[in-house]
Amino acid sequence: DALIDAAGPAAWWRTKRDALLALCPQDAPLYVYDLETVRARAEAVATLPHLDRGWYAMKANGHPDVIRTAVAAGLGIECVSIGEVHAAMAAVPGLPVDRILFTPNFAPRSEYAEAIELGIHLTLDGLHPLRHWPEIFAGSEITLRINPQRPEGHHKHVRTAGPDAKFGLHADELPEGIELAARAGAKIIGLHVHSGSGISDPDHWRRVGVFLAETARALPDVRILDLGGGLGVDEASGARRIDMEALGAVLTDLHTAFPQYSFWLEPGRFIIAEAGVLLARVTQLKQTPDARFVGINAGMNSLIRPALYGARHEIFNLTHLDDAPAYVADIVGPICETADRMGAQRLLPETWEGDVFLIANGGAYGRVMASSYNMREPAGEAVI
Ligand code: LLP
Repeated sequence: DALIDAAGPAAWWRTKRDALLALCPQDAPLYVYDLETVRARAEAVATLPHLDRGWYAMKANGHPDVIRTAVAAGLGIECVSIGEVHAAMAAVPGLPVDRILFTPNFAPRSEYAEAIELGIHLTLDGLHPLRHWPEIFAGSEITLRINPQRPEGHHKHVRTAGPDAKFGLHADELPEGIELAARAGAKIIGLHVHSGSGISDPDHWRRVGVFLAETARALPDVRILDLGGGLGVDEASGARRIDMEALGAVLTDLHTAFPQYSFWLEPGRFIIAEAGVLLARVTQLKQTPDARFVGINAGMNSLIRPALYGARHEIFNLTHLDDAPAYVADIVGPICETADRMGAQRLLPETWEGDVFLIANGGAYGRVMASSYNMREPAGEAVI
């Protein structure tokens, strides 16, 4: 089974192997994003039936070409910090402010004030801003994020709902939120839920839509129901790529049941995860009486997902892609941590120093979560 590639024999990078081998630097790892795949994914979201607006959650990957491709396909950009707002505006000169959605969490007052000043739609996920800074909300239209108390997602670190989640308002806080918004002169025109990341079941968004529509009954000005992101891709944790036809059917049903609302989605991973790969060169080989290691020049400072979430990324020797498997080894990086293991117990062909390894599904939450731990520069980025 280890030979069956989760990324699928049809993965785009198989047909671009020569270009990737030519791109891979001698002495540094490199993320490569395939813009055709980004465009196809973004279009698949933008053309979902009865989706009034799709937003690309740029926290997954902030490369300017990825942002431009998402916008060209018809998506807006969902930002989580004022830094992301500035980066989106820089990537797409003249980007209208109504194509930006700002969803901060525990951010300082200045970020809310600047976004509202710019005319960007804001999603509030707590009452502190309305309670303590009402003056910045006068005349604004806002969305409130609600905690639906039902966590979802591929790992506990990415589940953003439930009693101990720091995101969103408890439904019980809603009456106070309505009063504070009215006092501040703000109009609540949207409600939002994002309960986690890496969800494969389209019925999740049906439950969210029904929950939001029921919650919205108490709010006469609400016309937008933002169903969040979290659209899954194939991952060894058991998550599967979301069935877009089934998701379209869910949106159609929601539209039929609640025609008075506009529905939004804000996926990140679905747009860019499978469109990106991380290329690295083999640095050293090691065999002890107990274990076998293949060292590569990309470690947890370039891609932290295996160390942080136990995420499994398929890894291939791109130089010897079609060679017969020879042995099982752990694939490790150059960082001083035992968690610096990019893949455990992987079946590999005979491998040599300087071979190019490819880590699949690396486009989302890869480079954006990188660091220069150990004073090692993380992987750079290129697009094809
Ligand atoms: N909307 C909100 C409010 C979010 O917090 C997130 C992700 C998204 C949309 C996009 O979720 P997506 O469609 O990408 O699942 N670093 C983790 C994922 C963290 C997700 C954080 N929030 C990982 O590598 O799996």
